[in-house]
Amino acid sequence: MYSFRNDYSEGAHPAVMQALQETNLVQTPGYGTDHYCEEARALIREKCAALTADVHFLVGGTQVNLVACAAFLRPFEAVVSPCTGHPLVHETGALEATGHMVLSVPSEDGKLTPEQIRTVCAAHSGEHMVRPRMVYISDSTEVGTAYTKEELSALHQVCKALDLYLYLDGARLGCGMTCAAAPLTWSDLAETLDAFTIGGTKNGVLFGEALVITNDALKADFRSHMKQRGAMLAKGRLLGIQFRAILENDLYLETARHANTLAQKLQAGIEALGYPLFIQTPTNQIFPIFSNRLLTALSKTYEYEAQQAMDEDHTCIRLVTSWATPEEAVDTFLQDLKALKEQAL
Ligand SMILES: Cc1ncc(COP(=O)(O)O)c(C=O)c1O
Repeated sequence: MYSFRNDYSEGAHPAVMQALQETNLVQTPGYGTDHYCEEARALIREKCAALTADVHFLVGGTQVNLVACAAFLRPFEAVVSPCTGHPLVHETGALEATGHMVLSVPSEDGKLTPEQIRTVCAAHSGEHMVRPRMVYISDSTEVGTAYTKEELSALHQVCKALDLYLYLDGARLGCGMTCAAAPLTWSDLAETLDAFTIGGTKNGVLFGEALVITNDALKADFRSHMKQRGAMLAKGRLLGIQFRAILENDLYLETARHANTLAQKLQAGIEALGYPLFIQTPTNQIFPIFSNRLLTALSKTYEYEAQQAMDEDHTCIRLVTSWATPEEAVDTFLQDLKALKEQAL
């Protein structure tokens, strides 16, 4: 059995495990005040050329989204998100539970456009309505697409004009940054976003997301918000050690590139065999459509997520590769698929 279900099916990259092992007996102060966290923060600031950015390390993706929402917004302010956005689909109302509405915008490719943001703001202009204040986007998105630098700049412009914060959920940031169709640099991110996360969990660390806050207006008291919401890890060093290890020598981008390359090989191979895709993606999540009969056979040896039923007989599935996926797993999958096709499945 091989799993293409997710990019957090394995533990951590050997370099991360080695760093944890080597530092195991070193004593440090707690709650992210240790020198490993400081070094990881310095690395991030340097990469982003954002020497005054605040950097915080949190344990998970939902946690960082909800603490950011709680910290950045006043009680009547709302978040604007594409309908595919993780907070709307997979976070059990975590953002709303902080007291802020999440306004859903239709999106087929997982992205938002400036025009959509203008429309939502125009529709929420009175004092009897929530006030849109933070725009949630992700890169790569929940459907595997990615923003180009130009698209990100256009969102930045409209957010500035409408006095909105632009927040990017980077749970899969490495895959977004390194995809051939829409590459981004660290400084592209720091220049266009008020805050963004650098996802570790899905890109080679055991767990953890780094939150980078570039907008001075959002920095105050963030650690108090973290603490109040149970997001300040006593052994915060574990996050600093892991992020330092994955960011050093650009390992973070290397692991993501590996995941992208293998998913792209898988996507091209599936298409070459004549199967349709729900959406063409440039990153590590791909969405082929197969007959349910074929899936019954495939699921004897592979795990995947069923994304959505296309009709009575066909389902779109999600296949995900990671920093740890061996190329042989992709090759074997394609051979097995070819063999099933020859059996007319
Ligand atoms: C875009 C995005 N944001 C946030 C999360 C949430 O991460 P966690 O499961 O660590 O809460 C995920 C997880 O799949 C995600 O894909």
